Amino acid sequence: MTIEIRPITRAEAKDYLRVLPWANGLPQEEPEPSAWYAGRAANPPQRKATPEQLDRYAEELLTDWFRPQAAFVDGKIAGGSAIVSVELTLPGGRQVPMGGVTSTGVLPTYRRRGLLRKVMAAMLDDCRERGEFLAGLSASEATIYGRYGFAPATFQHRWEVRRTDAEFRTPFTDPGGLDLVDGATAAAIWPVLHEQVRAVRVGEVSPLPGKWSGLADGGLPADGRGPAHHLIHRDAGGQVDGAAIFRLPWSPDPDYAGELQVDAFEALNHDAHRALWGLLLDFDLTKRVVAARRPVDEPLRWMLANPRALKFARTRDNLWLNILDVQRALEARTYAAADAVVLEIDGVTWRLDASPDGAACTAAPGASADVSLTVSELGSLYLGGVRASEFRGAGRIAEHTAGAVSRLDALLQLDRAPHNAVGF
Ligand SMILES: CC(C)(COP(=O)(O)OP(=O)(O)OC[C@H]1O[C@@H](n2cnc3c(N)ncnc32)[C@H](O)[C@@H]1OP(=O)(O)O)[C@@H](O)C(=O)NCCC(=O)NCCS
Repeated sequence: MTIEIRPITRAEAKDYLRVLPWANGLPQEEPEPSAWYAGRAANPPQRKATPEQLDRYAEELLTDWFRPQAAFVDGKIAGGSAIVSVELTLPGGRQVPMGGVTSTGVLPTYRRRGLLRKVMAAMLDDCRERGEFLAGLSASEATIYGRYGFAPATFQHRWEVRRTDAEFRTPFTDPGGLDLVDGATAAAIWPVLHEQVRAVRVGEVSPLPGKWSGLADGGLPADGRGPAHHLIHRDAGGQVDGAAIFRLPWSPDPDYAGELQVDAFEALNHDAHRALWGLLLDFDLTKRVVAARRPVDEPLRWMLANPRALKFARTRDNLWLNILDVQRALEARTYAAADAVVLEIDGVTWRLDASPDGAACTAAPGASADVSLTVSELGSLYLGGVRASEFRGAGRIAEHTAGAVSRLDALLQLDRAPHNAVGF
């Protein structure tokens, strides 16, 4: 068996696409309207691409931002994955390039022979050559990617609330107003809104090209959840400062009828947040609201008269980070306090001089470390999504100087939990 790992040529693009459904055509835990199926276009996962679509996807595949690597076994493509170029927002606001690993799949008949391991090594080398000091992905299974250095860095909730329980603590007079708009209008609003959101939200990712263009056609998706509805909020000056995409799927089963599903929700300020949820939680003829991929520190719970009304149905990791260059990564973000700590990371000692304005990270061979950890823990700590003290409790971080873990936590903490609503 000869194995070759390399980028694909244009002539091989269709064969590569035929392997991808094994990654993404499998049932997902979370219905995702924009799930890929044999291409970059947003297709429902169940629908097989037509030969014409495959031709079109193959044509579109080789762009400067989509970098596939395939595993050829005896000359035939048996698996592959790809890196997309995205930007990640760090604490302090810098938006840095990140290699986003996506579309990972190996044919069932070629699994567990080391193909993914080889493909991953090639992709991470490619990231390093391009100067990307971070790689990220979202994981279908939590046991696959830790071995390559990836660690869960952001988390999300799926929650539900019954309409009858969703009373707000205090009345609210909206200084702005709500509007239902068509898909074309929403397709123009979302990219602008998202840019404003990701400028201030740690963990947020830049959208892939064409991310919202599918909203414009307003067609019925084949997932049976009915059409997308577009709600926006404008401030008193008429500027859009929030939006939501929701669906009202019909069901013959009375248990499921009357569910309002929120697919996307962004608000730039409290008024927009309050006004949008105010309508969505009290929508006539509905019984229940379900929202997925929500931040773990969603403030809505604390706006309700009964905070228990918001039931967290599921918590899941979202973005997994791989720190490819410790020094550059630690110098790229800012910190909540001014302090210096010596970190031993995978046996290499670094001195981190951190402050709210930035940091210097220098190799400190021979210095005695305050804390020892691996790049895996660092990936989870880096955006502030997990605390160092949690890892110490789990026996994964060793504290050599009393109080050093608390000092590290004080440096890394954020006002808001990191979150990414956009995937890749
Ligand atoms: C996940 C997948 C890409 C792995 O590919 P693969 O070529 O079989 O992986 P490798 O043979 O290179 O495995 C490397 C290591 O990962 C382990 N591994 C691979 N898949 C795993 C899984 N699903 N769960 C746990 N461990 C896994 C292997 O046992 C091996 O461990 P080792 O190095 O200790 O021996 C492949 O199984 C697949 O296509 N699965 C279905 C689709 C999917 O889940 N895609 C990921 C989308 S995020």
